[in-house]
Amino acid sequence: MASNDISGSVSEKPTHKFDPDFTQNVINAIGPKASPRLRKVMGSLIQHIHDFARENEITVDEWMAGLELLNESGRMSNDRRNEGQLLCDILGLESLVDEITYKLVADAKDGPTSTAILGPFWRKDAPRRKMGETIVFGIESGDRTYMHGQVIDYRTGKPIEGAELDVWHTAPNGLYEQQDPDQPDMNLRGRFTTGKDGRYNFYCLRPTSYPIPFDGPAGKLLQLLDRHPMRPAHIHFIITAPGYKPIVTQLFDRRDKYITNDAVFAVKSSLVMDFLPYKGDPKADFELAYDFKLASFEDASKFSVAGTTEESATSVAGN
Ligand code: BEZ
Ligand code: FE
Repeated sequence: MASNDISGSVSEKPTHKFDPDFTQNVINAIGPKASPRLRKVMGSLIQHIHDFARENEITVDEWMAGLELLNESGRMSNDRRNEGQLLCDILGLESLVDEITYKLVADAKDGPTSTAILGPFWRKDAPRRKMGETIVFGIESGDRTYMHGQVIDYRTGKPIEGAELDVWHTAPNGLYEQQDPDQPDMNLRGRFTTGKDGRYNFYCLRPTSYPIPFDGPAGKLLQLLDRHPMRPAHIHFIITAPGYKPIVTQLFDRRDKYITNDAVFAVKSSLVMDFLPYKGDPKADFELAYDFKLASFEDASKFSVAGTTEESATSVAGN
């Protein structure tokens, strides 16, 4: 359709507001030596990010503000803090990637234990402890909890010997030990290995809800989005066993006020638990019973339990 341009002469009205070939030119710049997966993923990322910029008519100032957020999160990150991961978490990306990776197990009845995000506070080489020991040191407050159960094969129900439970949670002040100079090193963490019966038991605390760190770019973004930083009370686990797919997960307290409103969107209904009053044990006021169900690598590939099916990938979280 014809229209008048600023000189008053008649010209063709552009059908596209922006250069219609631009994005494809950028994608086409990927060279022949790029791996097929990288070509696919980066091509798609370029397409989406350009569409996002066009759709929202992102200005240079807005783009710079976004870049500054990323740069600041890089500057804040170190081996104790991963602000980039935190940014992904508040945008739901870590939980979404977890769901995609383990899509068939999420909340499947009678399937393996569902996974949940690792989060930035896991530490390598937590102390190995004997069954029945506590992971709580130097803390008087909080509800002592006796946690116990079995690690079993999800299909056969047989106990798994030699399974390792790596557990960690915050103190009642809402801080993980590496965030808190007043807690002993590796407090509220431990690794337990099952015997022939696959059973485990230890003492911990009934966890409390806590805010994710909000003194950096992730916190600033939460504030700008008028969102709170709270996570519902939970305990983290990594369960590994020879011949089985590792599971990274969390168990949540049903009675927590943030259970339906997690700042990082990690709650799955099958992971929501009841902490029950526990009588007759001077060391605990509450009890949490839970059986972790693992899939063997063989079953994982046979029944398409998505994610890694390689035996060599028993190392989770880069350890
Ligand atoms: C955590 O549960 O430890 C956590 C997860 C995501 C962001 C921050 C903390
Ligand atoms: Fe946590």
